Amino acid sequence: MAEVITVMDIDDDNNPSPKPNNNNNMGKNVVVAAAPSQGKATPWVEKYRPQSLADVAAHRDIVDTIDRLTSENRLPHLLLYGPPGTGKTSTILAVARKLYGAQYHNMILELNASDDRGIDVVRQQIQDFASTQSFSFGGDSAKSSVKLVLLDEADAMTKDAQFALRRVIEKYTRNTRFSLICNHVNKIIPALQSRCTRFRFAPLEEFHVSERLKHVIETEGLDVSESGLAAVVRLSNGDMRKALNILQSTHMASQQQITEEAVYLCTGNPLPKDIEQISYWLLNESFAESFKRIQLSYLFIC
Ligand SMILES: Nc1ncnc2c1ncn2[C@@H]1O[C@H](COP(=O)(O)OP(=O)(O)OP(=O)(O)O)[C@@H](O)[C@H]1O
Ligand SMILES: [Mg+2]
Repeated sequence: MAEVITVMDIDDDNNPSPKPNNNNNMGKNVVVAAAPSQGKATPWVEKYRPQSLADVAAHRDIVDTIDRLTSENRLPHLLLYGPPGTGKTSTILAVARKLYGAQYHNMILELNASDDRGIDVVRQQIQDFASTQSFSFGGDSAKSSVKLVLLDEADAMTKDAQFALRRVIEKYTRNTRFSLICNHVNKIIPALQSRCTRFRFAPLEEFHVSERLKHVIETEGLDVSESGLAAVVRLSNGDMRKALNILQSTHMASQQQITEEAVYLCTGNPLPKDIEQISYWLLNESFAESFKRIQLSYLFIC
C-alpha cells in the first residue's frame, strides 16, 4: 500500500521557517462517515451518509463533473454552496475518500463552524498545513500528492480571515486544494469566489428524496404507508437531512406503521385535512362560528 509522508516544502522564499507539521490533529477531526452496518442508535443521517460520489442522490451534473476532475487529477479549488442537507459536505468527503483512500486523515484538514475561524487560524493552522508537501510512495518512485483543506461553513469566517485566505490559496496552489462550503454564497468575498469553481447545490427534488428514503426504508425494514412517505418528503422541503431525521423520529415514536398522521403528529405539524377544514369554515361560516368550531376542534385535538 502506498505510504504517505509529509515533509517541509520550500514553497515560497518569503515564507519564514514554517512550524512543524502537526496538522493531523488540527481543526475538527475528520469525520469518517459511518457505514450502513452501524448499530441501532446511530443517527440515520450519519448511517446513510453517501460513502462514494455514486451514492450522492441528485445533483448528477455537479457530482459527475467533480468525479471526472478528481479522476483526472485536475481538481480545482471548489466552492460548494446551497441550503442545508443537500449533500455538500458529503460530496467533498466522498472526493477525499476517493483521492486518498486509507491516507484520508493525513491529507485533509477540515475546519468547520465549531472551530475558531478568525485570521489566526488562516495564518497558523491553514498555512502550516498548506505549506508542507506530501509524497506518496508507490512502486519505485515518490509522487507528490495534492492535499485538501476543507473549510466547511465558510460563510462563518470573518472578513479578515477571508482576505488572508486569498493569498494562502494562491501561494500554495501547487500542493494544496481548497474546498469552501457554505449556505450563503453572498457572505464569501468576491475575491475568494473568483479563485474557486462554484457549484450550487439546490434543494433535492421530491423524486430524489423519495428514492433515497425508499432505500433506507427497505434497509431498515420499515413499514411506511404511501401517504406517510409522501408526508415525509413534503415536510422535508428538499432537505435530505431533515427527511431522514423525520423518518427516524417517527419510527422511534410510533414503532408501528408510519402513516401520514404519525408523521404530522411527530413533527408537530397540523394535518392537511385539519387545515382544509379550517379553511372551509373560514370561507363559509361567520367569523364567530368559525372561531367557535376551530376552538372546539383544537380542544379535541389537544
Ligand atoms: N444528495 C444527497 N444524497 C444522499 N444523502 C444526502 C444528500 N444530501 C444530504 N444527504 C443526507 O443528509 C446528511 C447531511 O448531508 P450533508 O452534510 O452533505 O449536507 P450539507 O449540504 O453539507 O448541509 P449543511 O449546509 O447543513 O452543512 C447526510 O449525512 C446524508 O445522510
Ligand atoms: Mg455541510
